[in-house]
Amino acid sequence: MAQAILLVGGFGTRLMPLTRNVPKPMLPVAGLPVTEHQLVTARRAGITSLVLATSYLSDVFIPYFGDGSRWGMHLQYAVEEEPLGTGGAIRNAAQLLTRDESIVIVNGDVLSSHDLTRQIQMHESLDADVTMHLTHVADARAYGCVPIDKDGRVAAFLEKMENPVANTINAGCYVFNSRVIDRIPAGKVVSIEREVFPELVDQGRALYGMVDDSYWIDIGTPAALLQGSIDVVRNTANSAVLDGVALVHRSQDYVAHEGAIIDPGAIITGGSAIGRAAHIGVGAIVDGSIICDGAKVLAGAHIRKSFVAAGTNVSGKLNVHDSYISTEEITSLLPL
Ligand code: GTP
Repeated sequence: MAQAILLVGGFGTRLMPLTRNVPKPMLPVAGLPVTEHQLVTARRAGITSLVLATSYLSDVFIPYFGDGSRWGMHLQYAVEEEPLGTGGAIRNAAQLLTRDESIVIVNGDVLSSHDLTRQIQMHESLDADVTMHLTHVADARAYGCVPIDKDGRVAAFLEKMENPVANTINAGCYVFNSRVIDRIPAGKVVSIEREVFPELVDQGRALYGMVDDSYWIDIGTPAALLQGSIDVVRNTANSAVLDGVALVHRSQDYVAHEGAIIDPGAIITGGSAIGRAAHIGVGAIVDGSIICDGAKVLAGAHIRKSFVAAGTNVSGKLNVHDSYISTEEITSLLPL
């Protein structure tokens, strides 16, 4: 058995207004919440016990995920009244897990097909304090930059900077030994990236990085969320999440979930995702977009690179791109 904590309590400010009523981890990618993608990935790596560390809009998780048995998991919830930061959340959630085994920690906004089983094995064979997944990006300025030595040992943990010293970045998935989690102060706001990791490096603790450049995306901005969804629909994300899910259509152009009604005269392309019980009317064009559960895109509407919130009715006259559309508002998502 292996165990994990998913960090899903952040405000998701970079995704506003998408995150006004829906926490970032519950936003749909290819029609399923980001967290569901992560549960499926974790289960594939042998994780059967998992804590969701929630805070912002915490109430929405339990009705959807329940006890986790649908995914072959034992799920528990650690709710923070006030967000404790990534480090404080880990300390709080770890109380629900056993101290005798490694704990996998995953940021709730990452889609990754890296080899988590190998990461856990590497951690255990080195008896490391922390083993983190690192990936290469062309431009590391927006990420925590993590140079490693020839043995994979982390040489520094550097937060976002203008001139990164390496292009290996923190990919947001760690294996922790419990002895390190016990060192995080309890009941306080603590950042794992800005406080805990730099301190552990300064103290010469055994932090290792496993570089794995498999498919990876941080869905923390509107453009990245749309891209992640397109990648899953088009099968470039190496994801198994849609296998066995009830769909009324699946192709490179789009997926449509159970209960969706697609008029034969509609044109849907670009790796779009159509949620459960959504309607797409005759002559409507949907391109590279996310249409959430129960939304209606009526005859003749043109929706490109946009996000239509659950339950929204989009009238036939609307022609939008790069936008967020809900019952209350239409907001440009540019600059993306
Ligand atoms: P931005 O506000 O757009 O930066 O998004 P965010 O609030 O999600 O922050 P960030 O992307 O840095 O967080 C990384 C992961 O940690 C996300 O999955 C968050 O949900 C999660 N997270 C961030 N802060 C907290 C917290 O205080 N408590 C918990 N439980 N999770 C958190």
